[in-house]
Amino acid sequence: MSIILGIESSCDETSIAIIKDGELLSNVVATQIEMHQKFGGVMPELASRLHCENALFVLDEALKKADISLEEVDAFAFTRGPGLIGALHIGMQVAKTLAMLYDKPLIPVHHLAGHIYANEFVKPLQFPLLSIVVSGGNTEFVYMKEDMDFEIIGETKDDAIGECFDKVARTLGLPYPGGIPIDKLSKEGKHTYTLPFPLHDDSLNFSYSGLKTAVINLVNNEKARGNEIRVADLCKSFQDVAISMIMDRLDKALSRYEIKQVVLAGGVSANSYLREQMHQRLDNTDIDLIVPPIWCTTDNAAMIVRLAEHLWKLGVVAPKTISCDPNWRIDKYKTF
Ligand code: KG4
Repeated sequence: MSIILGIESSCDETSIAIIKDGELLSNVVATQIEMHQKFGGVMPELASRLHCENALFVLDEALKKADISLEEVDAFAFTRGPGLIGALHIGMQVAKTLAMLYDKPLIPVHHLAGHIYANEFVKPLQFPLLSIVVSGGNTEFVYMKEDMDFEIIGETKDDAIGECFDKVARTLGLPYPGGIPIDKLSKEGKHTYTLPFPLHDDSLNFSYSGLKTAVINLVNNEKARGNEIRVADLCKSFQDVAISMIMDRLDKALSRYEIKQVVLAGGVSANSYLREQMHQRLDNTDIDLIVPPIWCTTDNAAMIVRLAEHLWKLGVVAPKTISCDPNWRIDKYKTF
């Protein structure tokens, strides 16, 4: 029997969750989105300060909701990376302080592996699986031959897909986080603008900076010619191309790897067109698909404690001298 308390602070959500033998007792999330919106993106320094301000309130509420005391917790987990270095440090320092105060182990958790394992809240993972990790900071295909075995078989060469959605949205005067208004407006628009497919090669890698630049150039050129931008049409045209890159790589991966299950992970997995395309491609095949519930697509500590339970069983604990790694690779999750 074990009770694990986990802290997530890799970007702009301060979250603490408590899990007891697979049962999620609480998951409190304090989002900072409104505070960053006026800057059109996350301000790292502001994010760190807000984590400092929010952490203890979130901790109190998580304990109250779970109806447990800190003395009852068996281990303290935290997001070690990837993420914003200052933001990660706050969550880690809270976890370290608690672990030292109560003389309990410290479990370092990989943020993206957490997003993958959040799918266990829907149903069990089946291996070998392909995880499509699409977020504001990362775009990766992660192949898992078995439980807790991560191989990156494709990754972005430049921008992450979420970053691209956010920058395109900013160019069009839409609010942060840009994926949400682009997804919404795309439903009203038509694919009438021509944009380049980002990376013509045989790999499973991605590229999003060229697509972002193509949208910026198109908007500037249309403005220079005095033409009005049809925002919904441009959103739809952009979204189609951005998602088609994922679908192209998915087809290649399916033809090269043994895959029993495909799981979506990360903030962009909330995208309704991506979800629709995944169902179209995989329903009526013998490959199972897990699409995470929307609450699991945004950053939260529920996914951190879920994965921490696996790490706890494997005996993965960290020395109290551990530090964060903003660029921690998923295939190095045991190296810290
Ligand atoms: O996982 P996440 O919080 O990012 C990182 O921690 O890196 O996801 C945030 C990203 C943002 O780029 C946001 O624009 C995008 O997820 N996003 C979406 C949608 N909802 C959020 N992108 C496309 N469609 C959506 N519906």
